Amino acid sequence: MTSAKQPTQTVSSIQIPINIVVLAAGQGKRMNSQLPKVLHQIAGVSMLGHVLATAYQLAPQHICVVYGHGGETVRETFAEAKLLWAKQDPQLGTGHAVLQAINILKSTPGQQGVTLVLYGDVPLIRATTLNRLVALANQNTLAWLTMNVADPSGLGRVLRDKQNKVMAIVEEKDATSAERDIHEINSGFLACPTEWLVEWLPELNNNNAQGEYYLTDILALAVADGCKVETISADDEFEIIGVNTQQQLAQLERIYQHENANRLLAEGVSLADPARIDVRGKLTIAEDVFIDVNCIFVGDVHLNANVKINANCILQNCTIGTGTVILPFTLIDGATIGSNARIGPYARIRPDTTLADNVHIGNFVEVKASEINEGSKANHLSYIGDTSVGKNVNIGAGTITCNFDGANKHRTVIEDNVQIGSDVQLVAPVTVKEGATIAAGTTVWKDAAAGELTLNQKTQMILKNWQRPTKKPR
Ligand code: UD1
Ligand code: CA
Repeated sequence: MTSAKQPTQTVSSIQIPINIVVLAAGQGKRMNSQLPKVLHQIAGVSMLGHVLATAYQLAPQHICVVYGHGGETVRETFAEAKLLWAKQDPQLGTGHAVLQAINILKSTPGQQGVTLVLYGDVPLIRATTLNRLVALANQNTLAWLTMNVADPSGLGRVLRDKQNKVMAIVEEKDATSAERDIHEINSGFLACPTEWLVEWLPELNNNNAQGEYYLTDILALAVADGCKVETISADDEFEIIGVNTQQQLAQLERIYQHENANRLLAEGVSLADPARIDVRGKLTIAEDVFIDVNCIFVGDVHLNANVKINANCILQNCTIGTGTVILPFTLIDGATIGSNARIGPYARIRPDTTLADNVHIGNFVEVKASEINEGSKANHLSYIGDTSVGKNVNIGAGTITCNFDGANKHRTVIEDNVQIGSDVQLVAPVTVKEGATIAAGTTVWKDAAAGELTLNQKTQMILKNWQRPTKKPR
């Protein structure tokens, strides 16, 4: 299992019950896109999808997503999930956003415990980091994720007293120039005792540079009320990077892919170039797998031992058997492929296809909803659709199964040990019986007899004195 977010650890060490609030109301104007910001994808999954997957790993009582104007699409996208939704309209700041969620969560059981705040546009936060944060928080401790960063610009700064005790967070727009020199920043992530949060949120005001209700102001309220405040850092800065622009989205995509490639290398895969593999889903691998450059893996893909994937292949929802070689520029989607097979170059394997051991599929061969049994070969320029192919069949170049009559699809059956010459059309429904031979250029529209040669009667003539046309002079 590989994912930049280490989803392997699902059991949290937390005793205290938690609710999770995910802020996702921001419009994301700077994305310059019709799509709500949190639906933009990293590794084929929306940013909010990443955050929710991480949230579920913490086994919370409830997850409440705060969505805003135009956010109905967001709600519809996650309609199936067991989520609570809080609409924030207008958007008056992060404190106001969390208050909307608290108003929804109020009516659910389990209000004690801790509320964890996550962000729909900060997708690479790790569950392990959140577990550490939540483990610090309790009835009388507010836990806050901060970080020392090289470039703090644009972010809230953490103010500490002479004893290094956290006092408050100041937004950059409200900060003095001395405060702006602070490099410890607010990541935004926090785990707050819910009873305190419910008390503090209505006390927030918007007397600040942006005229917003800042969630960050609860830190100073906690200090004033004698609630303990603890801070920890994330292991990696990318965990707390938020996306506001397409550039940042692309940057996080690269980080995600880089992390994923490193994990694959650690698991023992050989990668021709870790910077040129993209995994958009779950890629699992056995020993001694080699992957050449520019391959994309989508959905659930499993590669067995000694598989070799050559350059520029796209593999989606498929399993590849031991020792099989996928040659360059091959597309595989929704197929199970046996061991020691050779597929490609330039092959297209479409859904509902099963290829047994030692099958060879060559260049410009398309296979759809078909089963091809052991040792059979289709090496050049063919279409095999809705077909069952037996063992040790050889399908000649240019063979086409004519599976569609304009209204319905029909099946072709090719039994064991059949030999099909080049440029044959098999007009389905039709069966080529065991051991049959089909002559080159035959159109098979009736079942072909076992063990016999089937051919169409054709003549070959010579036209005497025929002249090849010549170019007219201009
Ligand atoms: C916020 C923090 C800042 C921190 C930074 C980290 C506050 C006041 N400031 O600043 O200290 O360093 O994040 O990235 O919290 N949102 C809503 N409703 C709103 C406003 C915001 O849902 O009314 C959501 C946004 O969609 C976004 C998140 O809250 O996911 C943060 O909002 P944003 O405006 O980006 O806050 P920053 O100014 O970056
Ligand atoms: Ca932000």
